[in-house]
Amino acid sequence: MPMLGFGTWQIRGREAYDAVRTALDVGYRHVDTAALYENEAEVGRAIADSGLAREDVFITTKLLHSDAGRAREALQDSLAALGVDAVDLYLIHSPPGGASPPTWEQLLTARDDRLARAVGVSNYSTAQVDELIQATGEAPAVNQVKWGPSLHDPGFLSESAQRNVVVEGYSPFRSTDLHDETLVRIASDHGVTPAQVVLRWHLEHEIVVIPKSVTAERIRANADIFGFSLSEEEVARIDALSQ
Ligand SMILES: NC(=O)c1ccc[n+]([C@@H]2O[C@H](COP(=O)([O-])OP(=O)(O)OC[C@H]3O[C@@H](n4cnc5c(N)ncnc54)[C@H](OP(=O)(O)O)[C@@H]3O)[C@@H](O)[C@H]2O)c1
Repeated sequence: MPMLGFGTWQIRGREAYDAVRTALDVGYRHVDTAALYENEAEVGRAIADSGLAREDVFITTKLLHSDAGRAREALQDSLAALGVDAVDLYLIHSPPGGASPPTWEQLLTARDDRLARAVGVSNYSTAQVDELIQATGEAPAVNQVKWGPSLHDPGFLSESAQRNVVVEGYSPFRSTDLHDETLVRIASDHGVTPAQVVLRWHLEHEIVVIPKSVTAERIRANADIFGFSLSEEEVARIDALSQ
């Protein structure tokens, strides 16, 4: 799973198609969508038109809350919209009235039937993840949760690591003050932007990150985070923004 992905919430139609084409052109190889976003068809078309081989693009989509009782059919609908035989990751978008082990069992079966290479959850607490593990013996491959310097929670990271659950952070900017003095200072020391520092900070914690933008220059800059790294001391200063 590429550590950097491209988020597509709140973009539809032509805007979604163009943004995903730009993202793939500048090097993203991981796209995050959901049935809820109503853009799976445009995301799928952008991937197909990119000229990249299907196996070179990691595609995540998610189960709509109201489809919890028909997860397999919902996944098949998503595959048809995306125009692919399988996704790389299928997530329960949010706990459908509790952890819902029966929904999780449907995802495991769909994975075993090769409709998704991996399955996981989103917006689950550790207690809810434990409920799924207790019911089925299988942990989600990924838990996609809201993350950013102000939301940093080391306890959650270590609980997830103990269970072999990869943490994927969403809304890295939505939850962050990009004018924060610590971020601005660290960015200036590296000759990068505060937004790039925030994304790099996720990587230093081994958190997958999926920024969204419709602005070509930001799409490009958000992917340009592999040419510098943060020291332990810088990471600690950013971690402290959650206090
Ligand atoms: N699982 C879930 O429940 C869940 C919930 C929310 C989001 N997500 C996923 O996570 C992805 C990312 O989260 P998000 O869309 O909420 O928000 P985000 O990526 O944190 O922020 C997007 C906003 O930041 C702006 N932006 C992007 N790059 C920037 C930069 N370099 N400098 C300054 N501003 C910048 C964008 O503006 P422009 O577009 O105008 O450039 C947009 O307004 C979503 O798209 C979706 O795929 C999942």
